[in-house]
Amino acid sequence: MKQFSLVNKVVVVTGAAGLLGRNHVQAIADAGGIPVLIDIDALNMKSVIEEFESKFGIEFSHFVVDITDENQVKVCCENILQKYGHIDGLVNNAANNPKIETNGVNEQSRLENFSINSWQADISVGLTGAFICTKYFGTAIALQGGSIVNISSDLGLIAPDQRLYEKHGLAPGNQPVKPVTYSVVKTGLIGLSRYTATYWAKQGVRCNSLCPGGVENSQDPSFVAKLTSLIPLGRMARQNEYQGSLIFLLSDASTYITGTELVADGGRTAW
Ligand SMILES: NC(=O)c1ccc[n+]([C@@H]2O[C@H](COP(=O)([O-])OP(=O)(O)OC[C@H]3O[C@@H](n4cnc5c(N)ncnc54)[C@H](O)[C@@H]3O)[C@@H](O)[C@H]2O)c1
Repeated sequence: MKQFSLVNKVVVVTGAAGLLGRNHVQAIADAGGIPVLIDIDALNMKSVIEEFESKFGIEFSHFVVDITDENQVKVCCENILQKYGHIDGLVNNAANNPKIETNGVNEQSRLENFSINSWQADISVGLTGAFICTKYFGTAIALQGGSIVNISSDLGLIAPDQRLYEKHGLAPGNQPVKPVTYSVVKTGLIGLSRYTATYWAKQGVRCNSLCPGGVENSQDPSFVAKLTSLIPLGRMARQNEYQGSLIFLLSDASTYITGTELVADGGRTAW
């Protein structure tokens, strides 16, 4: 199991206070690594840090940073390098992640109505933020080699099935949809992974996309029934079910894997 170890590896996780981010952090710590948490949400960050520090009995480095602000990321990177002297991994995980299935986002999510502001906000976090983090943390990783994982989605590979989000009694033009930006951001990250993987290959930087399927999170049962009927394994993912894939991609267990996608979707894209 030694090749799965992250001992002494400093791994930056963006969106670390979110649903999956905290699971990534836990997995990195369990593998012996040093996770560095980044999130814009100071309140959630505080509760995640309290939980981890009481669980592991050690301090966790964390930064309240807006990844769309280049200067904030630059300063954060300098602070991490000053503290540890190296950065070995990056998980580009932060994104605007609209929970249409629970919040019932209204018809403003539809392509015909989607505002330029919403477009820019989603692209800004999901793509520009990932680029800025790659620029600073990736450059640090390229000094000695390491691994970058971009968190894409099954929806980076297939189009959203908008029938999943249909609400009974609404006219077709008023039905909520998964916004266009989700597909664009998640597909764009796959391109970013390929670019980075080849750009820094000689520097020993590997870069891959992890494409998770939907995660159980108290969604409406009718949504869950519709979605799981599209998944060969017949269920959504559990919240900790991407931890093994992430550690695999970050660690020496995947030293010959770069520029590709690890699809963890219960088989949805095979159907
Ligand atoms: N949850 C799922 O079912 C699922 C499925 C496939 C892929 N994904 C992907 O996994 C990733 C995490 O999803 P999640 O469900 O944990 O989402 P989440 O909304 O729970 O977490 C996202 C985190 O990103 C942070 N964030 C947003 N803007 C930021 C900014 N400008 N700077 C720094 N941090 C910022 C938020 O504060 C939040 O804590 C996303 O990229 C998402 O697209 C999620």
